[in-house]
Amino acid sequence: MKPKVYVTRKIPERGLKMLRDFAEVKVWDGELPPPRDVLLKEVEQVDGLVSLLTEKIDEELFSVAKNLKVVSNYAVGFDNIDLKAATNRGIYITNTPGVLTETTADLAFALLMAVARRIVEADKFVKEGKWKTWGPELLLGQDIYGSTLGLIGLGRIGLAMARRGKGFDMNVCYYDVFRREELEAEYGIKYMEMEQLLRSSDFVSIHVPLTEDTRHLINEKTLSMMKKNAILINTARGPIVDEKALYDALKNGKIAGAGLDVTDPEPIKMDNPLLKLNNVVILPHIASASVATRTKMAEMVAENMIAGLKGEVPPNLVNKEVIKD
Ligand code: GLV
Ligand code: GLV
Repeated sequence: MKPKVYVTRKIPERGLKMLRDFAEVKVWDGELPPPRDVLLKEVEQVDGLVSLLTEKIDEELFSVAKNLKVVSNYAVGFDNIDLKAATNRGIYITNTPGVLTETTADLAFALLMAVARRIVEADKFVKEGKWKTWGPELLLGQDIYGSTLGLIGLGRIGLAMARRGKGFDMNVCYYDVFRREELEAEYGIKYMEMEQLLRSSDFVSIHVPLTEDTRHLINEKTLSMMKKNAILINTARGPIVDEKALYDALKNGKIAGAGLDVTDPEPIKMDNPLLKLNNVVILPHIASASVATRTKMAEMVAENMIAGLKGEVPPNLVNKEVIKD
């Protein structure tokens, strides 16, 4: 008998095909996530679950999913999953690192450039018929070349962002709980303590996972350390930024702009005052959204699932403590 796998959204076909060749697969085909009661019902009999960051994978779910052995998350981040609860129950949790690194850094840099050079505002200006002539002071923005890019977090994506910054002749500095001296020399980047980084950077870009330590890392206090011309870029997770404090800082000119691919909550509420600000560009969490990358993620999700269900250690196991020796 084939194992049973539930997939909480239609992912690219290549991954679904790999899964179907191995397992009996059921896919939720709605655009929105399956309602919680549907999800809890669907997982009762399954051996594997392919989840998205929109699904909360927690003890309640594990307690009804009696046969569950593998949760293969279609994302690099896994803050939607209670890892400890999974480990206690011997369930493998996997993610999709590596394949989305460059695509995500591309989008982070696109956001940086869009806010610095007011691309979205300028496009709107043209389409609204406001373009009358070439103007010496029309839509002036900030230089990217020669400015300082401060990275909070120097994991894979942070480093990919550092390389982009160097390519644009930026001075690049980073803060991370792990100092990476070998990379500093190799890439010509500089380590700084968090406060020094915030005080020195023209662009601050966030590349850390969401954990209890990083929740509201950007808050009234840290925003007040940033330069008046500073632009904040967040392609990591919404709750890392205190949005109310961000709004106040932007509104009162304490910083100059923000580019957000992630919000808290998602989707952003339509009465969120950030939506009214011209110096903020907000995207619907699309950093890894290229055809090639989403296809690779689907393959990786299938590989992790299939390995786990075969009783092998999945290539991208997150909760390594689950392996018993
Ligand atoms: C998306 O945010 C991911 O974690 O892959
Ligand atoms: C995620 O891939 C990271 O390490 O930045």
